[in-house]
Amino acid sequence: NFPNKVDVKEVGPRDGLQNEQTLISTEDKVSLIHQLSDSGLKYIEVGSFVNPKWIPALADTLEVAKKMKRHDDITYSALVPNQKGLEGAIEAGIDEISVFMSASETHNKKNINKSIEETFPVLKAVIEEGRNAGKTTRGYISTVFGCPYEKNVAVENVIRVAENLFEMGVDELSLGDTIGVANPSQVQTVLNVLLDRFPRERLAMHFHDTRGTAMANIVASLDMGVTTFDGSIGGLGGCPYAPGASGNLATEDLLYMLQGMDIQTGINQEKLLLAAQFIEKKIGRPLPSHNLQAATAK
Ligand code: HMG
Ligand code: MG
Repeated sequence: NFPNKVDVKEVGPRDGLQNEQTLISTEDKVSLIHQLSDSGLKYIEVGSFVNPKWIPALADTLEVAKKMKRHDDITYSALVPNQKGLEGAIEAGIDEISVFMSASETHNKKNINKSIEETFPVLKAVIEEGRNAGKTTRGYISTVFGCPYEKNVAVENVIRVAENLFEMGVDELSLGDTIGVANPSQVQTVLNVLLDRFPRERLAMHFHDTRGTAMANIVASLDMGVTTFDGSIGGLGGCPYAPGASGNLATEDLLYMLQGMDIQTGINQEKLLLAAQFIEKKIGRPLPSHNLQAATAK
């Protein structure tokens, strides 16, 4: 009993490229975003307004945002950790700001240099000011299913962060399996608890495929009625403050399965594959996407 329509949100230009050693030019990032727009995706995370010393690969997000052609029916988002990031996002004309924090103390500290408690007031101010500037907000919680430093993460910690973020006014909350350790039983256990408290339409799932369980976790989430999923073109990516983390589930692998299951997305697979081929060539090594490999093998 699966939903008949889902939203796929593309995070490749941000999550996919943030930890990439190969330098991708501003022009190529813009071209990737244009190809993704052409595929029918309605949501693209284009970069980050974070400290460029921490994430040098995305230091040109402002230029990317200024150069890319916009479509009225596409939401363009970017990561914003604080006031300074919000200023960048406003200057760039980003539609939706993505705030982010972790369910585990150690990852939160390593990733954004603050304790969980210290993070709340910073994000609260960002969300409020963002709203005043006409921006919607997506919230990310990292390490929902496991932390690279603390291993197990109690579901109570996830609830606490989720409650705070919803109270601050995030429009949507994306639950991150940052290091790709979740399994379908765990996903359903956590979702059972969260769906008791928060509306299904406002939850999204963000699975990394480090251990090959991302697709199974998607099915487990679909089975619980969740209808928003993050994907990364080509399966690019990983979090630099999560050792060993690999990319999100490849958007084209997700789409292949959804299409086969007759679940509508509005996305064109051939066009996605062209975008994946383009960025694979620029990166200069084979990307993890199964459908990309299958298409090039033909
Ligand atoms: P900090 O060092 O505590 O910041 O870093 P600060 O406020 O003390 O400022 C120190 C310096 O940073 C100053 O510059 C600021 O101007 C500058 P200086 O005076 O030294 O030259 N600075 C900034 N510069 C540009 N843009 C900004 C900004 N803020 C301060 N917004 C900070 C705190 C949050 C900035 C830092 O820790 C940071 O940039 N972290 C980024 C971490 C990151 O992007 N991680 C990857 C994304 S999260 C992820 O991948 C998970 C997700 O995909 C979900 C999942 O899979 O779980 C979302
Ligand atoms: Mg991620």
